[in-house]
Amino acid sequence: MSLDKKFPSVADMAAGAAKRMPKFVHEYMIGGIMDETCVERNRSTLNEVQLMPRYLQEAQKPDISTTVLGQTFDAPFGVAPLGLSGLMWPNLENVLAAAAKQHNLPYTLSTYACVSLEEIRKSGGDNTWFQYYPSDTPEIEQDLLDRCKNAGYKTLVLTVDIPVETVRYRDAKSGLSVPPDFFDLKTLWQMVTHPTWSLTMLRYGVPQFRSLEKYYPPGPKIPASVKFISTHMKGHITAERFKDIRAAWDGNLIVKGVLDVGEAETYMSLGADGIQVSNHGGRQFDAAPTPVDMLPAIRQALGPEALILADGGVRNGLDIARMIALGANFVLMGRPFVYAVAAIGERGGDHVMRVLKQELTMSMAQMGCPDLISMPDHLV
Ligand code: FNR
Ligand code: LAC
Repeated sequence: MSLDKKFPSVADMAAGAAKRMPKFVHEYMIGGIMDETCVERNRSTLNEVQLMPRYLQEAQKPDISTTVLGQTFDAPFGVAPLGLSGLMWPNLENVLAAAAKQHNLPYTLSTYACVSLEEIRKSGGDNTWFQYYPSDTPEIEQDLLDRCKNAGYKTLVLTVDIPVETVRYRDAKSGLSVPPDFFDLKTLWQMVTHPTWSLTMLRYGVPQFRSLEKYYPPGPKIPASVKFISTHMKGHITAERFKDIRAAWDGNLIVKGVLDVGEAETYMSLGADGIQVSNHGGRQFDAAPTPVDMLPAIRQALGPEALILADGGVRNGLDIARMIALGANFVLMGRPFVYAVAAIGERGGDHVMRVLKQELTMSMAQMGCPDLISMPDHLV
């Protein structure tokens, strides 16, 4: 059966992924925090956004390409950073980076990915961005930023919405520890009952935080990584810390995880090149507003020229149009890309990107919207 028939939408890919992923990684991926109302709200607020279709103009093929920080992409969306990506699906990083390159879209590699920043940059070239969770140890920070520069990264995405450690109940119950403990009996059973995941995992080996392992203290890797993260990776970025990072990185700097209008203005005044309006897919704070709630006010405050990206709950090309109508220049997604590769395998990245481009083009043609700049005119 063709992929278009079996997996026409992201929802079909999500259903396929639920069958093929072991429960502890599936729970980690879909989960939010506390009552998970924010995950739900990301979806419900998007569904409420209405766009006006207009039919009098002669129909033309919409142009969905866009330029961000001097680089032109074939469509206004890309892959958001995903920690533990290689655990959710083996080799997920390489599969998605290759698909992004093929489709000329950006791929963001997480600090906590399981492939090193050097390896991904080599294969993904200019389509790769690096997401940085700061280290509070100055030498490690300097070394990581130097490595990004030497590897050729031009864009750093600084995530600011994890100031403290939080507990996610699904992970607590499923027994997912970071990094994972493969010797837990429940975990082993889930691996045995999900053979495609397990066999692929065997091929690629136990996932590790490859960009960080050179900083680990000596000793066996798993306990060393836990010790390293708990002593060197405290994430709180105050204004002072932000200024230091801005001074240390001379490439493009996008700040991810901004929701407050005043904070968006502050980051821009301190030298950010763009803001990613995001509540981390509802994973950090259950009472957080959604990008749909905040985008119009942030656009209003930052003005028409500022670069604004957004993510959270986007599941199809129409949602991408909605975010752009509300004021975003560019849209990122996390879970949909995991669904696709987990459901389909190596061809999943290409398939979902094709589907999303096609849905966006179809929606714009139906609306009578010729290009992305005209999208806000359709907001009802
Ligand atoms: C994330 N997200 C995330 N963000 C980040 O800056 N660094 C990271 O390492 C991760 N890790 C991560 C893992 C998983 C499993 C998920 C689902 C999310 C947040 C991510 O970049 C993005 O903000 C959300 O995923 C967007 O919401 P949707 O598209 O998943 O609804
Ligand atoms: C998460 C972290 C890795 O959302 O950002 O799981």
